[in-house]
Amino acid sequence: MKIAFIGAGKVGAPLAQHLAEAGHDVVLAESREGSSSLKSALSRSSKLRSSPLTEAVRFAGVVFLATPFGANECVLRHVASQLPGKVLVDCTNPVGPGLTHGLRSERSGSELVQSLVPEAKVVKAFSIYGFENFEDPRYPGYDIRPTMLFCGDDRRAKELASDLIFDCGFEPFDVGGLVQAPHLEHMTLLWVRMVRAQGHAPGLVWGALERPKAKLPYSKLVVFGDGLSDRAEVERADQGGGAARRRAPGVRPAGSACGRRGASGRRDTGGMDLPRRSR
Ligand SMILES: NC(=O)c1ccc[n+]([C@@H]2O[C@H](COP(=O)([O-])OP(=O)(O)OC[C@H]3O[C@@H](n4cnc5c(N)ncnc54)[C@H](OP(=O)(O)O)[C@@H]3O)[C@@H](O)[C@H]2O)c1
Repeated sequence: MKIAFIGAGKVGAPLAQHLAEAGHDVVLAESREGSSSLKSALSRSSKLRSSPLTEAVRFAGVVFLATPFGANECVLRHVASQLPGKVLVDCTNPVGPGLTHGLRSERSGSELVQSLVPEAKVVKAFSIYGFENFEDPRYPGYDIRPTMLFCGDDRRAKELASDLIFDCGFEPFDVGGLVQAPHLEHMTLLWVRMVRAQGHAPGLVWGALERPKAKLPYSKLVVFGDGLSDRAEVERADQGGGAARRRAPGVRPAGSACGRRGASGRRDTGGMDLPRRSR
């Protein structure tokens, strides 16, 4: 996959390195003359290269946004014309004084990003942990990977993002539409407060364990007025008398194609041949 990174600091650099080593064609956008973060990121792998911002974004099908939140508006204005139809993986977080939500929880950062580039397909990901876990997501002794919760409104964009999350060493878990971004941003604040303020180890990650839903012993119509997806559909299920369940197809349980490998051991990549790396 052709991938560009805007921002190659503590978050962008390790993710770019993992993806380049997994076989993706990764270019780092040049931020400014003599940028030490860019120089340091490039020194991580001979597979990484850099190019001017607009060129990098023009080249890529997937663009990672890993800049300080306050820089987003200015950066996106420069590349807005290159972004229509492309996947924009938003790794940024609005953090305000005293580790509060930087937009006072009135709106999520990712919804703001989406409004700045309405024709891009924004997926919020790589935002809920500190950068230490992006450097090394391996947890020897556990037989599951750290879970990376992500959200976005475009199904295909989320499938691509899901594969990239996997290639970075995490278990992708789709939590729904971009309307879920405020909750991910509050999870970030939870993690940051626990680790940076309360002294928990930075290698603190979450794991998702899920039981299959128990079948209802009676007929029941369950309707969620959840607003999780505007593509919600009613699925008929035979549950001891023909119960109907309402589900949002953008919300995939762990074990679905978008997040887990199928029986063949490979996940649904929409026909794309994506290299994997073993951990
Ligand atoms: N740090 C974490 O643990 C963590 C975890 C998850 C998410 N995040 C979020 O990820 C984002 C990046 O955080 P970070 O810790 O990686 O920050 P960082 O280490 O300061 O890196 C920021 C990167 O963005 C570049 N940049 C800054 N202003 C720019 C502009 N106007 N145009 C183009 N590039 C620009 C910087 O380049 P120069 O060095 O040349 O200025 C640098 O490469 C933030 O929004 C943060 O909230 C952080």
